Amino acid sequence: ALTLEKEGHPELGEVEGIPLVQVTCNEWQRIQSFQARPDDLLICTYPKAGTTWIQEIVDMIQQDGDLEKCKRAPVHHRHPFIEWVRPPQPSGVEQAEAMPSPRTLKTHLPVKLLPPSFWEQQCKVILPLSTMLTMAATAAAVWVFNMGWGPWHDHVKGWWKVKDMHCVLFLFYEDMKKDLKREIQKVAQFLGKNLDQELLDKIVYHTSFDVMKDNPMANRSGVPRSFMDLSISPFMRKGTVGDWKNHFTVAQNERFEEDYEKKMAGTNLTFCMEL
Ligand code: A3P
Repeated sequence: ALTLEKEGHPELGEVEGIPLVQVTCNEWQRIQSFQARPDDLLICTYPKAGTTWIQEIVDMIQQDGDLEKCKRAPVHHRHPFIEWVRPPQPSGVEQAEAMPSPRTLKTHLPVKLLPPSFWEQQCKVILPLSTMLTMAATAAAVWVFNMGWGPWHDHVKGWWKVKDMHCVLFLFYEDMKKDLKREIQKVAQFLGKNLDQELLDKIVYHTSFDVMKDNPMANRSGVPRSFMDLSISPFMRKGTVGDWKNHFTVAQNERFEEDYEKKMAGTNLTFCMEL
């Protein structure tokens, strides 16, 4: 099998059996002792679940639809990524520590690795979920590579266990594709904001795939090529549900379904694979 290193990706280490970038593992003590504040909002996802989409929606709600404020920085700088370590740049923890409250933070960590202060401070957590089949690229990668942040199944099942906590909001990528307005309203309500129709329509428009794809503050166009080579694939690739059908053979699909049934047995978490 190919390894991530051979593909030019960073070296991986491990924390409690979860593969993470080695430089993140080296800083683990500092990440685990991260001090959350009670008014922090945490966006927590498996990679490729639509993190950036939710980040943009949350920011537009928090900024009351002020587009200029939302363009103050690329989305990955507006919301520190707490396990991000890439010396000599400031780490995610350092960026978060330097940020005034209220902060919105991002993580891909599985529930068992979340710094405990988020629970102690009862921070609000938004958890966008998506089947890995939604994003065909992820589905292919999961089988080929030892993915950072561990297997998708364990990640979503782990987080689903906290679903009855009042401070956690689960969202599904497929629901957002079906009725974005309704899902934005859910987020606003969770954040304690009341949106009038005009503002709601504005947020729906500016967080649509086509508008975000052309928004340099959302489409990763400023990211260094060594980190993400957008000439291979744009970050905002297709943004559709069911694209796996264009990539999987029938045999691969059967193998996937068998594996999925086995690994997702015993959970009442269900996903819609196509719209
Ligand atoms: P595709 O690669 O299928 O296009 P993340 O931010 O977690 O890395 O997720 C990236 C995926 O979310 C990409 O999927 C991207 O296109 C999709 N995405 C981002 N913004 C979106 C939007 N406004 N509508 C639909 N999908 C969106």
